[in-house]
Amino acid sequence: MKKTIITSLFTLLLVACGGGSDSTDNSQSGQQKDQQNQDTEVVFDNLSSLAEFPIGVSVPAGQYANSILNSEARKQIVLQHFSQISAENIMKMDALQPNQGQFSFNHADNLINFANNNGIGVHGHVLLWHSQVPNWMKSFSGDKQQWLTMMKTHITTVATHFAGQVESWDVVNEAFLDNGLYRSIGDSGSVWYQNIGAEFIQEAFVAASQADPNADLYYNDYNLSSSSSKINAVVAMVEDFQTRNIPIDGVGFQMHVTSSYPSDDTIKAHFKKIVDLGLKVKITELDVRMNANSQHQQVSDAILKLQQQRYFDIVSAYLEAVPAAQRGGITIWGISDADSWILNLYDQEDWPLLFDENFNEKPALQGVAQALNND
Ligand code: G3I
Repeated sequence: MKKTIITSLFTLLLVACGGGSDSTDNSQSGQQKDQQNQDTEVVFDNLSSLAEFPIGVSVPAGQYANSILNSEARKQIVLQHFSQISAENIMKMDALQPNQGQFSFNHADNLINFANNNGIGVHGHVLLWHSQVPNWMKSFSGDKQQWLTMMKTHITTVATHFAGQVESWDVVNEAFLDNGLYRSIGDSGSVWYQNIGAEFIQEAFVAASQADPNADLYYNDYNLSSSSSKINAVVAMVEDFQTRNIPIDGVGFQMHVTSSYPSDDTIKAHFKKIVDLGLKVKITELDVRMNANSQHQQVSDAILKLQQQRYFDIVSAYLEAVPAAQRGGITIWGISDADSWILNLYDQEDWPLLFDENFNEKPALQGVAQALNND
Protein backbone atom coordinates (compact mmCIF):
# COMPACT_ATOMS: atom_id res chain seq x y z
CA MET A 1 0.00 0.00 0.00
CA LYS A 2 1.81 3.08 -1.28
CA LYS A 3 0.91 6.32 0.37
CA THR A 4 2.85 9.38 1.40
CA ILE A 5 1.47 11.70 4.01
CA ILE A 6 1.96 15.41 3.45
CA THR A 7 1.19 17.05 6.76
CA SER A 8 -0.51 20.40 6.59
CA LEU A 9 0.82 23.49 8.35
CA PHE A 10 -2.04 23.09 10.83
CA THR A 11 -0.69 19.78 11.95
CA LEU A 12 2.91 21.00 12.16
CA LEU A 13 1.81 23.86 14.40
CA LEU A 14 -0.17 21.39 16.46
CA VAL A 15 2.92 19.24 16.96
CA ALA A 16 5.16 22.24 17.66
CA CYS A 17 2.82 23.28 20.46
CA GLY A 18 2.94 19.76 21.85
CA GLY A 19 -0.65 19.30 20.89
CA GLY A 20 0.09 16.83 18.19
CA SER A 21 1.70 13.47 18.15
CA ASP A 22 2.38 10.64 15.80
CA SER A 23 -0.48 8.62 14.47
CA THR A 24 -0.03 5.95 17.12
CA ASP A 25 -0.81 8.31 19.99
CA ASN A 26 -4.49 8.27 20.88
CA SER A 27 -4.19 11.16 23.30
CA GLN A 28 -5.51 13.71 20.77
CA SER A 29 -9.17 14.60 21.05
CA GLY A 30 -11.36 13.00 18.46
CA GLN A 31 -12.22 16.39 17.00
CA GLN A 32 -8.53 17.39 16.88
CA LYS A 33 -7.65 14.09 15.20
CA ASP A 34 -10.44 14.35 12.67
CA GLN A 35 -9.58 17.96 11.89
CA GLN A 36 -5.91 17.12 11.70
CA ASN A 37 -6.54 14.19 9.40
CA GLN A 38 -9.00 16.14 7.30
CA ASP A 39 -6.33 18.82 6.81
CA THR A 40 -3.65 16.25 6.05
CA GLU A 41 -3.41 15.67 2.32
CA VAL A 42 -2.88 12.04 1.43
CA VAL A 43 -0.69 11.43 -1.59
CA PHE A 44 -1.52 8.06 -3.13
CA ASP A 45 -1.27 6.24 -6.41
CA ASN A 46 -4.30 4.02 -6.08
CA LEU A 47 -7.38 4.84 -4.00
CA SER A 48 -8.30 1.18 -3.47
CA SER A 49 -4.85 0.45 -2.03
CA LEU A 50 -5.89 2.52 1.01
CA ALA A 51 -8.65 0.03 1.91
CA GLU A 52 -8.75 -3.62 2.95
CA PHE A 53 -12.15 -4.01 1.23
CA PRO A 54 -13.42 -3.39 -2.33
CA ILE A 55 -13.42 0.20 -3.55
CA GLY A 56 -15.73 0.05 -6.52
CA VAL A 57 -17.23 2.18 -9.25
CA SER A 58 -20.17 1.71 -11.57
CA VAL A 59 -19.23 1.77 -15.23
CA PRO A 60 -21.08 2.26 -18.52
CA ALA A 61 -20.41 -0.48 -21.06
CA GLY A 62 -21.96 -2.37 -23.95
CA GLN A 63 -23.80 -0.29 -26.51
CA TYR A 64 -23.70 2.92 -24.46
CA ALA A 65 -21.81 5.81 -26.04
CA ASN A 66 -19.71 6.32 -22.90
CA SER A 67 -18.79 2.66 -22.59
CA ILE A 68 -15.62 2.22 -20.58
CA LEU A 69 -14.36 -0.26 -23.17
CA ASN A 70 -14.27 2.55 -25.75
CA SER A 71 -12.89 5.21 -23.40
CA GLU A 72 -9.20 5.28 -22.49
CA ALA A 73 -9.84 8.06 -19.95
CA ARG A 74 -12.47 6.05 -18.08
CA LYS A 75 -10.41 2.86 -18.36
CA GLN A 76 -7.33 4.57 -16.90
CA ILE A 77 -9.24 5.86 -13.88
CA VAL A 78 -10.76 2.46 -13.16
CA LEU A 79 -7.47 0.61 -13.57
CA GLN A 80 -5.64 3.09 -11.35
CA HIS A 81 -8.08 3.65 -8.50
CA PHE A 82 -10.66 0.90 -8.19
CA SER A 83 -10.65 -2.77 -7.18
CA GLN A 84 -14.22 -3.60 -8.20
CA ILE A 85 -16.75 -2.57 -10.81
CA SER A 86 -20.53 -2.69 -11.06
CA ALA A 87 -22.18 -2.59 -14.49
CA GLU A 88 -24.39 0.49 -14.44
CA ASN A 89 -26.94 -1.01 -16.85
CA ILE A 90 -25.74 -3.94 -18.94
CA MET A 91 -26.28 -6.71 -16.38
CA LYS A 92 -29.91 -5.82 -15.71
CA MET A 93 -32.84 -7.97 -16.83
CA ASP A 94 -33.67 -6.03 -20.01
CA ALA A 95 -30.04 -6.28 -21.14
CA LEU A 96 -29.45 -9.95 -20.35
CA GLN A 97 -32.78 -11.48 -21.41
CA PRO A 98 -34.34 -9.04 -23.87
CA ASN A 99 -36.69 -11.75 -25.17
CA GLN A 100 -37.98 -14.80 -23.35
CA GLY A 101 -35.41 -17.56 -23.52
CA GLN A 102 -32.99 -15.38 -25.50
CA PHE A 103 -30.08 -14.49 -23.21
CA SER A 104 -27.57 -11.92 -24.40
CA PHE A 105 -24.28 -12.10 -22.46
CA ASN A 106 -21.77 -10.68 -24.96
CA HIS A 107 -21.57 -7.12 -23.62
CA ALA A 108 -21.42 -8.29 -20.02
CA ASP A 109 -18.82 -10.94 -20.84
CA ASN A 110 -16.64 -8.33 -22.52
CA LEU A 111 -16.85 -6.08 -19.47
CA ILE A 112 -16.18 -8.89 -17.01
CA ASN A 113 -13.25 -10.14 -19.09
CA PHE A 114 -11.78 -6.62 -18.98
CA ALA A 115 -12.20 -6.56 -15.20
CA ASN A 116 -10.90 -10.02 -14.50
CA ASN A 117 -7.98 -9.65 -16.94
CA ASN A 118 -6.93 -6.59 -14.95
CA GLY A 119 -7.37 -8.07 -11.49
CA ILE A 120 -10.52 -6.09 -10.80
CA GLY A 121 -13.49 -7.75 -9.10
CA VAL A 122 -17.13 -7.54 -10.22
CA HIS A 123 -20.20 -6.82 -8.12
CA GLY A 124 -23.23 -8.06 -10.05
CA HIS A 125 -25.96 -5.48 -10.48
CA VAL A 126 -28.74 -6.64 -10.51
CA LEU A 127 -30.58 -9.96 -10.72
CA LEU A 128 -34.07 -8.63 -10.00
CA TRP A 129 -35.80 -5.28 -9.58
CA HIS A 130 -38.96 -3.53 -10.61
CA SER A 131 -37.32 -1.31 -13.21
CA GLN A 132 -35.64 -2.03 -16.54
CA VAL A 133 -37.82 -5.13 -16.86
CA PRO A 134 -37.99 -6.26 -20.49
CA ASN A 135 -41.39 -5.82 -22.11
CA TRP A 136 -41.99 -9.56 -22.44
CA MET A 137 -41.68 -9.92 -18.66
CA LYS A 138 -44.02 -6.99 -18.04
CA SER A 139 -46.66 -8.62 -20.25
CA PHE A 140 -45.96 -12.19 -19.11
CA SER A 141 -49.17 -14.12 -18.56
CA GLY A 142 -49.29 -16.90 -16.02
CA ASP A 143 -50.28 -17.96 -12.54
CA LYS A 144 -48.07 -17.52 -9.47
CA GLN A 145 -46.15 -20.73 -10.09
CA GLN A 146 -45.47 -19.81 -13.71
CA TRP A 147 -44.25 -16.35 -12.66
CA LEU A 148 -41.99 -17.97 -10.08
CA THR A 149 -40.60 -20.36 -12.67
CA MET A 150 -39.96 -17.51 -15.10
CA MET A 151 -38.27 -15.44 -12.40
CA LYS A 152 -36.09 -18.29 -11.17
CA THR A 153 -35.12 -19.24 -14.72
CA HIS A 154 -33.73 -15.73 -15.23
CA ILE A 155 -31.85 -15.69 -11.95
CA THR A 156 -30.51 -19.23 -12.28
CA THR A 157 -29.36 -18.76 -15.88
CA VAL A 158 -27.65 -15.44 -15.19
CA ALA A 159 -26.02 -16.38 -11.87
CA THR A 160 -24.84 -19.70 -13.31
CA HIS A 161 -23.37 -17.99 -16.35
CA PHE A 162 -21.31 -15.56 -14.25
CA ALA A 163 -20.49 -17.95 -11.39
CA GLY A 164 -16.81 -17.67 -10.50
CA GLN A 165 -16.48 -14.29 -12.23
CA VAL A 166 -18.71 -12.22 -9.91
CA GLU A 167 -17.78 -11.71 -6.24
CA SER A 168 -21.23 -10.63 -5.12
CA TRP A 169 -24.71 -9.83 -6.37
CA ASP A 170 -27.44 -7.35 -5.75
CA VAL A 171 -30.01 -10.16 -5.79
CA VAL A 172 -33.09 -8.00 -5.24
CA ASN A 173 -33.12 -4.23 -5.54
CA GLU A 174 -35.64 -1.73 -4.14
CA ALA A 175 -38.45 -4.07 -3.01
CA PHE A 176 -39.59 -1.68 -0.23
CA LEU A 177 -41.03 1.82 -0.21
CA ASP A 178 -39.74 4.50 2.15
CA ASN A 179 -42.77 3.89 4.40
CA GLY A 180 -41.62 0.30 4.94
CA LEU A 181 -44.37 -1.32 2.86
CA TYR A 182 -43.58 -3.58 -0.07
CA ARG A 183 -43.35 -1.89 -3.45
CA SER A 184 -46.52 -3.22 -5.08
CA ILE A 185 -48.76 -1.46 -7.59
CA GLY A 186 -48.67 1.93 -9.27
CA ASP A 187 -46.23 3.67 -11.57
CA SER A 188 -43.15 2.28 -9.86
CA GLY A 189 -44.89 -0.93 -8.90
CA SER A 190 -43.35 -4.37 -8.93
CA VAL A 191 -44.55 -7.05 -11.33
CA TRP A 192 -42.81 -9.52 -9.01
CA TYR A 193 -44.82 -8.50 -5.95
CA GLN A 194 -48.03 -8.20 -7.96
CA ASN A 195 -47.78 -11.72 -9.43
CA ILE A 196 -45.91 -13.68 -6.76
CA GLY A 197 -46.30 -11.76 -3.52
CA ALA A 198 -43.59 -10.86 -1.00
CA GLU A 199 -42.12 -14.34 -1.17
CA PHE A 200 -40.50 -13.45 -4.49
CA ILE A 201 -37.65 -11.97 -2.48
CA GLN A 202 -36.75 -15.15 -0.60
CA GLU A 203 -37.24 -17.24 -3.74
CA ALA A 204 -34.78 -14.97 -5.56
CA PHE A 205 -32.15 -15.39 -2.85
CA VAL A 206 -32.58 -19.18 -2.76
CA ALA A 207 -32.25 -19.41 -6.55
CA ALA A 208 -29.16 -17.17 -6.58
CA SER A 209 -27.54 -19.15 -3.78
CA GLN A 210 -28.15 -22.46 -5.54
CA ALA A 211 -26.73 -21.07 -8.80
CA ASP A 212 -23.66 -19.44 -7.26
CA PRO A 213 -22.99 -20.60 -3.68
CA ASN A 214 -19.74 -18.64 -3.54
CA ALA A 215 -21.03 -15.16 -4.30
CA ASP A 216 -22.05 -12.81 -1.49
CA LEU A 217 -25.77 -12.12 -1.85
CA TYR A 218 -27.10 -8.63 -1.04
CA TYR A 219 -30.46 -7.01 -0.67
CA ASN A 220 -29.98 -3.49 -2.11
CA ASP A 221 -32.05 -0.34 -1.68
CA TYR A 222 -31.98 3.46 -1.56
CA ASN A 223 -32.77 5.66 1.49
CA LEU A 224 -31.80 2.85 3.86
CA SER A 225 -29.43 5.38 5.44
CA SER A 226 -32.24 7.88 5.99
CA SER A 227 -35.65 6.21 6.31
CA SER A 228 -36.22 4.46 9.63
CA SER A 229 -39.38 2.76 8.34
CA LYS A 230 -37.49 1.35 5.39
CA ILE A 231 -34.43 0.14 7.27
CA ASN A 232 -36.66 -1.40 9.94
CA ALA A 233 -38.61 -3.27 7.25
CA VAL A 234 -35.34 -4.62 5.86
CA VAL A 235 -34.17 -5.61 9.34
CA ALA A 236 -37.43 -7.50 9.89
CA MET A 237 -37.02 -9.25 6.54
CA VAL A 238 -33.44 -10.26 7.31
CA GLU A 239 -34.38 -11.51 10.79
CA ASP A 240 -37.15 -13.60 9.21
CA PHE A 241 -34.69 -14.96 6.61
CA GLN A 242 -32.22 -15.84 9.35
CA THR A 243 -34.81 -17.79 11.31
CA ARG A 244 -35.74 -19.78 8.18
CA ASN A 245 -32.19 -20.22 6.80
CA ILE A 246 -32.89 -18.19 3.66
CA PRO A 247 -29.39 -17.32 2.39
CA ILE A 248 -28.43 -13.63 2.55
CA ASP A 249 -24.96 -12.19 3.20
CA GLY A 250 -25.42 -8.46 3.28
CA VAL A 251 -27.41 -5.31 2.72
CA GLY A 252 -26.48 -2.74 0.11
CA PHE A 253 -27.02 0.89 1.07
CA GLN A 254 -27.19 2.78 -2.23
CA MET A 255 -26.40 6.15 -0.58
CA HIS A 256 -27.60 8.59 -3.22
CA VAL A 257 -27.27 11.48 -0.78
CA THR A 258 -26.94 15.26 -0.70
CA SER A 259 -24.27 17.42 0.90
CA SER A 260 -26.15 17.47 4.19
CA TYR A 261 -28.83 14.75 4.28
CA PRO A 262 -28.94 12.28 5.95
CA SER A 263 -26.78 13.17 8.95
CA ASP A 264 -23.64 11.21 9.76
CA ASP A 265 -25.22 10.00 13.01
CA THR A 266 -28.29 8.66 11.20
CA ILE A 267 -26.11 6.94 8.62
CA LYS A 268 -24.05 5.28 11.35
CA ALA A 269 -27.12 4.24 13.33
CA HIS A 270 -28.70 2.63 10.26
CA PHE A 271 -25.48 0.84 9.29
CA LYS A 272 -25.35 -0.51 12.84
CA LYS A 273 -28.83 -2.05 12.53
CA ILE A 274 -27.46 -4.35 9.84
CA VAL A 275 -24.10 -4.85 11.57
CA ASP A 276 -25.98 -6.06 14.65
CA LEU A 277 -27.58 -8.79 12.50
CA GLY A 278 -24.12 -10.09 11.64
CA LEU A 279 -24.46 -9.21 7.94
CA LYS A 280 -22.09 -7.33 5.68
CA VAL A 281 -22.77 -3.68 4.90
CA LYS A 282 -21.89 -2.44 1.43
CA ILE A 283 -22.25 1.11 0.15
CA THR A 284 -23.32 0.20 -3.37
CA GLU A 285 -24.09 3.44 -5.26
CA LEU A 286 -22.56 6.42 -3.48
CA ASP A 287 -22.91 9.85 -5.01
CA VAL A 288 -23.24 13.25 -3.35
CA ARG A 289 -25.55 15.78 -5.01
CA MET A 290 -24.32 19.34 -4.47
CA ASN A 291 -27.13 21.13 -6.30
CA ALA A 292 -30.26 19.35 -5.12
CA ASN A 293 -32.21 22.61 -4.95
CA SER A 294 -30.78 23.94 -8.20
CA GLN A 295 -29.28 26.73 -6.19
CA HIS A 296 -26.01 26.81 -8.12
CA GLN A 297 -25.44 27.63 -11.76
CA GLN A 298 -21.83 26.46 -11.69
CA VAL A 299 -19.44 24.65 -9.42
CA SER A 300 -17.09 26.56 -7.10
CA ASP A 301 -14.12 25.81 -4.83
CA ALA A 302 -16.45 26.18 -1.84
CA ILE A 303 -18.85 23.57 -3.25
CA LEU A 304 -15.99 21.20 -4.00
CA LYS A 305 -14.52 21.66 -0.51
CA LEU A 306 -17.92 20.99 1.08
CA GLN A 307 -18.24 17.86 -1.03
CA GLN A 308 -14.77 16.70 0.03
CA GLN A 309 -15.86 17.02 3.65
CA ARG A 310 -19.09 15.09 2.94
CA TYR A 311 -17.28 12.20 1.25
CA PHE A 312 -14.77 12.21 4.14
CA ASP A 313 -17.61 12.10 6.68
CA ILE A 314 -19.56 9.32 4.93
CA VAL A 315 -16.54 7.04 4.51
CA SER A 316 -15.50 7.82 8.11
CA ALA A 317 -19.01 6.91 9.29
CA TYR A 318 -18.77 3.60 7.42
CA LEU A 319 -15.41 2.77 8.96
CA GLU A 320 -16.62 3.74 12.42
CA ALA A 321 -19.90 1.81 12.31
CA VAL A 322 -18.96 -1.29 10.32
CA PRO A 323 -16.35 -3.70 11.71
CA ALA A 324 -13.63 -4.75 9.26
CA ALA A 325 -15.01 -8.27 8.83
CA GLN A 326 -18.41 -6.91 7.80
CA ARG A 327 -17.25 -4.32 5.26
CA GLY A 328 -18.64 -5.37 1.87
CA GLY A 329 -17.07 -2.35 0.28
CA ILE A 330 -17.78 1.13 -1.02
CA THR A 331 -18.85 1.74 -4.61
CA ILE A 332 -19.15 5.15 -6.26
CA TRP A 333 -22.01 5.37 -8.73
CA GLY A 334 -20.17 6.65 -11.77
CA ILE A 335 -16.71 7.69 -12.94
CA SER A 336 -17.04 11.27 -14.18
CA ASP A 337 -19.58 13.91 -13.17
CA ALA A 338 -20.69 14.01 -16.81
CA ASP A 339 -21.66 10.32 -16.64
CA SER A 340 -23.88 10.65 -13.59
CA TRP A 341 -27.50 9.52 -13.86
CA ILE A 342 -28.36 12.52 -11.70
CA LEU A 343 -27.72 14.98 -14.53
CA ASN A 344 -30.03 13.01 -16.84
CA LEU A 345 -32.80 12.38 -14.32
CA TYR A 346 -32.98 15.87 -12.83
CA ASP A 347 -31.93 17.62 -16.03
CA GLN A 348 -29.78 20.10 -14.16
CA GLU A 349 -26.19 20.91 -13.31
CA ASP A 350 -24.59 18.83 -10.57
CA TRP A 351 -21.16 17.50 -9.67
CA PRO A 352 -21.77 14.34 -7.61
CA LEU A 353 -18.70 12.18 -8.20
CA LEU A 354 -14.92 11.96 -7.62
CA PHE A 355 -13.77 13.04 -11.09
CA ASP A 356 -14.99 16.02 -13.09
CA GLU A 357 -16.35 16.08 -16.64
CA ASN A 358 -12.79 16.17 -17.96
CA PHE A 359 -11.80 13.18 -15.81
CA ASN A 360 -9.69 15.36 -13.49
CA GLU A 361 -9.47 14.39 -9.82
CA LYS A 362 -11.73 16.44 -7.53
CA PRO A 363 -11.26 17.23 -3.83
CA ALA A 364 -13.91 14.55 -3.20
CA LEU A 365 -11.36 11.91 -4.19
CA GLN A 366 -9.01 13.33 -1.56
CA GLY A 367 -11.85 13.25 0.97
CA VAL A 368 -12.35 9.52 0.43
CA ALA A 369 -8.59 8.94 0.64
CA GLN A 370 -8.27 10.94 3.87
CA ALA A 371 -11.02 8.92 5.52
CA LEU A 372 -9.56 5.60 4.36
CA ASN A 373 -6.14 6.73 5.53
CA ASN A 374 -7.53 7.40 9.00
CA ASP A 375 -8.60 3.80 9.48
O1 G3I B 1 -28.08 5.62 -23.88
C1 G3I B 1 -29.46 5.83 -24.17
C2 G3I B 1 -29.60 6.91 -25.23
O2 G3I B 1 -29.04 6.44 -26.45
C3 G3I B 1 -31.07 7.24 -25.42
O3 G3I B 1 -31.21 8.31 -26.35
C4 G3I B 1 -31.66 7.66 -24.06
C5 G3I B 1 -33.11 8.03 -24.15
O4 G3I B 1 -33.89 6.88 -24.03
O5 G3I B 1 -31.52 6.55 -23.14
C6 G3I B 1 -30.17 6.26 -22.89
O6 G3I B 1 -30.09 5.17 -21.99
C7 G3I B 1 -30.36 5.55 -20.64
C8 G3I B 1 -29.26 4.94 -19.77
O7 G3I B 1 -29.51 5.22 -18.39
C9 G3I B 1 -27.88 5.49 -20.12
O8 G3I B 1 -27.84 6.84 -19.81
C10 G3I B 1 -31.70 4.98 -20.24
O9 G3I B 1 -32.73 5.63 -20.95
C11 G3I B 1 -31.91 5.23 -18.76
O10 G3I B 1 -33.09 4.57 -18.31
C12 G3I B 1 -30.74 4.65 -17.95
O11 G3I B 1 -30.92 5.04 -16.59
C13 G3I B 1 -30.26 4.19 -15.63
C14 G3I B 1 -31.24 4.00 -14.48
O12 G3I B 1 -30.61 3.24 -13.43
C15 G3I B 1 -32.48 3.28 -14.95
O13 G3I B 1 -33.37 3.17 -13.85
C16 G3I B 1 -29.01 4.89 -15.13
O14 G3I B 1 -28.02 4.95 -16.15
C17 G3I B 1 -28.44 4.16 -13.93
O15 G3I B 1 -27.38 4.91 -13.33
C18 G3I B 1 -29.52 3.96 -12.87
O16 G3I B 1 -28.98 3.22 -11.82
C19 G3I B 1 -29.90 2.90 -10.76
C20 G3I B 1 -29.52 1.54 -10.23
O17 G3I B 1 -29.54 0.58 -11.26
C21 G3I B 1 -30.42 1.16 -9.06
N1 G3I B 1 -30.39 2.19 -8.01
C22 G3I B 1 -30.75 3.52 -8.50
C23 G3I B 1 -29.80 3.93 -9.63
C24 G3I B 1 -30.12 5.33 -10.09
O18 G3I B 1 -31.39 5.39 -10.66
